[in-house]
Amino acid sequence: MTSATMVAADDVEVLHWWTSGGEAAALNVLKQDLEGQGIGWTDMPVAGGGGEQAMTVLRARVTAGNAPTAVQGLGFDILDWGKEGALADLNEVAAKEGWDEVVPDALKAFAKVDGKWVSAPVNVHSTNWVWANKSVLDANGIAVPTSWEDFTAALETLKAAGITPIAHGGQAWQEATVFDAVAMSVLGPDGYKAAFVDLDEATLGSDAMKEAFDRMAVIRANVDDNFSGRDWNLATAMVINGEAGFQMMGDWAKGEFLNAGKVPGEDFLCFRFPGTADQVTFNADQFMMFDQGGPVSAEQAALASAILSPSFQSAFNVVKGSVPARTDVSDADFDACGKQGMKDLAAAAASGNLFGSMAHGHAAPASVKNAIYDVVTAHFNGEFDSETAVDELVDAVSIAK
Ligand code: GAL
Repeated sequence: MTSATMVAADDVEVLHWWTSGGEAAALNVLKQDLEGQGIGWTDMPVAGGGGEQAMTVLRARVTAGNAPTAVQGLGFDILDWGKEGALADLNEVAAKEGWDEVVPDALKAFAKVDGKWVSAPVNVHSTNWVWANKSVLDANGIAVPTSWEDFTAALETLKAAGITPIAHGGQAWQEATVFDAVAMSVLGPDGYKAAFVDLDEATLGSDAMKEAFDRMAVIRANVDDNFSGRDWNLATAMVINGEAGFQMMGDWAKGEFLNAGKVPGEDFLCFRFPGTADQVTFNADQFMMFDQGGPVSAEQAALASAILSPSFQSAFNVVKGSVPARTDVSDADFDACGKQGMKDLAAAAASGNLFGSMAHGHAAPASVKNAIYDVVTAHFNGEFDSETAVDELVDAVSIAK
């Protein structure tokens, strides 16, 4: 039996990549919300952080004429499906509920195609965070680093103490996630935008870009021997259990700490990657509603409406580690990292310091993103020195764009 035949008339079939403990806990908030409205949930999980595998499965399903009802999507992928005409028109529910007034422009840019709402934004994550085990830092006399020099000194201290300085999972999307923050810290906001949004050759090939790769090499020298292929949540677990000091990862990592019963400020610390305190590199998870033939279905409209409701936006994001996709949700229920995330996002948006994450499909289309992944990961694995990586980056982006 295919999954399509298992979907009852008023069920939603949801394709997503939220399979870690913290992600699954957050997804349950959504499932229960819908079940409370009498709408059944058919789960279509496709493991793989960052969603690459999920997007491959999606393409196959759509090609077979069997698109799921709702699909987790990011940035340019949503725009691509929207432009292909594959997504349902949510304007009626959006107008009724006033989405245009409460969803920030940075998200609308990825949720609307030709004036039509085609997906429902769930959250805002950001990638330029560092997660630390507080007792490990305390025991080694390490204060929260605010500069690259402080950070590298902390890494040396941990290494000397026999602790893995950085927990990392060797998968291309994870290396790219780290690169988001490292590149921002070296290139600055204008340089980050020039390189990854405008795809400016001079910036991609600059000395600053070489410095960013040099810093990636320092990070590579501070991960354990078994990093290759490790899933991101297993790297988070190394920080949770004190095997490692730091992880550089988006704030979905916080969901893992919370799921393990850990408390920010007591058990773990969250801070912006040194040198990026004013910037936010964001990605927003959304649920694209695939056109089922005819107008948007009642279940799709109910799902979209549930996702955008202020109470859901708070309840879900408190668990997920992200912050609300609406500007009018109270931060009362959020922990210290969540409150900081909301404040940082608003401040970055107001000061022109909010940028789409390259690693998570919000800076450039998938072809360019994948080209950058290849170079970053090859350099991380020692195939290229920094100078070669810069040359390869320029070439790869110019071919892909
Ligand atoms: C991101 C996504 C997050 C989280 C993460 C790891 O792309 O936005 O919600 O799922 O991947 O899987």
